[in-house]
Amino acid sequence: MNSRFTLTHTAYLKNQIPEINRPQVLMAGRSNAGKSSLINALANRKNLARTSSSPGKTRSINFFHVQPEDFFLVDLPGYGYAQCSKKERNKWSELINDYLARGENIHGLVLIIDSRIPPQTLDIELAGYAQGMNIELLPILTKADKCNQKQRARAQNSWIRLLPEVRRPILFSAQTGLGKDKLWQEILNLTDI
Ligand code: GTP
Ligand code: MG
Repeated sequence: MNSRFTLTHTAYLKNQIPEINRPQVLMAGRSNAGKSSLINALANRKNLARTSSSPGKTRSINFFHVQPEDFFLVDLPGYGYAQCSKKERNKWSELINDYLARGENIHGLVLIIDSRIPPQTLDIELAGYAQGMNIELLPILTKADKCNQKQRARAQNSWIRLLPEVRRPILFSAQTGLGKDKLWQEILNLTDI
């Protein structure tokens, strides 16, 4: 895995969303789940995508060009941030809806879930929304380094029950690299390159 990642576009507003004619795979999940850390782990870079221990770090849609494969990984702002105002929440859904509605080059949505937290309504809603738009889902249970075997199995089983028709979630850790090769392979499969 020696691909190069370059941040090429950042969109805070819908008129800033770029027209990109290459496959895009999206990283979505609750605030603080570990989306940006996962991108950094895949890129083998520490500070490519900005991370933070306080939720709500990523406020924009960030497009990372991956070469030589020539596709985009897209870091979405997290949802479900408790301190977030209603106005902010609406802004999030408007921005994301607008982006997803364009759809053509969206090849999949990586649903990033903190493996210590049981399935949340917003995760389930997003999964349903993506399925409704025929966007392929790839669930990832991250922060697996913080769980023992029993907790990992419990987390996987609850998602398998919720999404029986979707690939079983991949256990991942940005800290140890667990699941990284498998995830990369699945992302490449989604891009159809
Ligand atoms: P927003 O941008 O706010 O939506 O958050 P995010 O989903 O991008 O999360 P981010 O990658 O910033 O990570 C949030 C916190 O979780 C940071 O303190 C990370 O260091 C930590 N973290 C992320 N992934 C892992 C992991 O696999 N293991 C451990 N132990 N910590 C992790
Ligand atoms: Mg982030």
